[in-house]
Amino acid sequence: AASGNHDLRALIRTIPDFPKPGILFRDVTTLLADGAGLRASVARMAEPWEGHGIDKVIGLEARGFILGGAVACHLGAGFVPVRKAGKLPGKVLTQDYALEYGSATFELHEDAIEAGETVLIVDDLLATGGTAEAGIALLERLGARIAACSFIVDLPALGGRKRLEALGMSVHTLVAFDGA
Ligand code: PRP
Ligand code: MG
Repeated sequence: AASGNHDLRALIRTIPDFPKPGILFRDVTTLLADGAGLRASVARMAEPWEGHGIDKVIGLEARGFILGGAVACHLGAGFVPVRKAGKLPGKVLTQDYALEYGSATFELHEDAIEAGETVLIVDDLLATGGTAEAGIALLERLGARIAACSFIVDLPALGGRKRLEALGMSVHTLVAFDGA
C-alpha cells in the first residue's frame, strides 16, 4: 500500500540550536524530499478519513499547505487555505494567535466553508497547539464540523495534543518526539 512500512521518523532531520540555542528543530523537509516518505506520510494522514465524508481539507499556512493539498487530493475533498493576514482577497474572518515570541494572525475566507460541512485540519507539526487552535476558532465561527486535526509530528512535551483534546478535538499524529 502507499502507506507501506516506511520509517518516517528516520526521514525527519533534527537540527540542534535552531531557531535559538537549546531548541532541537524537527525538520520535515528531509521527509518531504523523499518520494516514498512523502507518499506514505500523505496516505497515513488521509487513510483514517477515507469514507468519512470529508468535504474540505484545511491547510494551515505555510507548511500545512504542502500536506493539505495532497491529503485533499487523496480523499477527493476540496482544499481550503487558512492564510497569514493580508493574503486572501475576499471577505475574511480573522483570528490572532500567540507564537513563542509575539503573535500572528490567521485569516479564512468567510465563504470557503458552508455551515455543517465536515473538515479535516492538516499541518506538519503540533507543538503548543496555538496555531491549530487559531484555525479551529475560525472554522467553528463558520459552523464547520471538524472531524480531526492531523499532523506528521507530535511534540507531546509542549502540550498541544492535550490542548486540542481539551477543545474536544480528535488529534491524529504519525511520529512523536519526546522531550520536545
Ligand atoms: C510551525 C509549524 C506549525 C506550528 C506549530 O509553523 O509549521 O504550524 O509552528 O507550533 P504550535 O503548535 O506551537 O502553534 P510556523 O509558525 O513556524 O510557520 P510556517 O508553517 O509558516 O513555517
Ligand atoms: Mg506552520
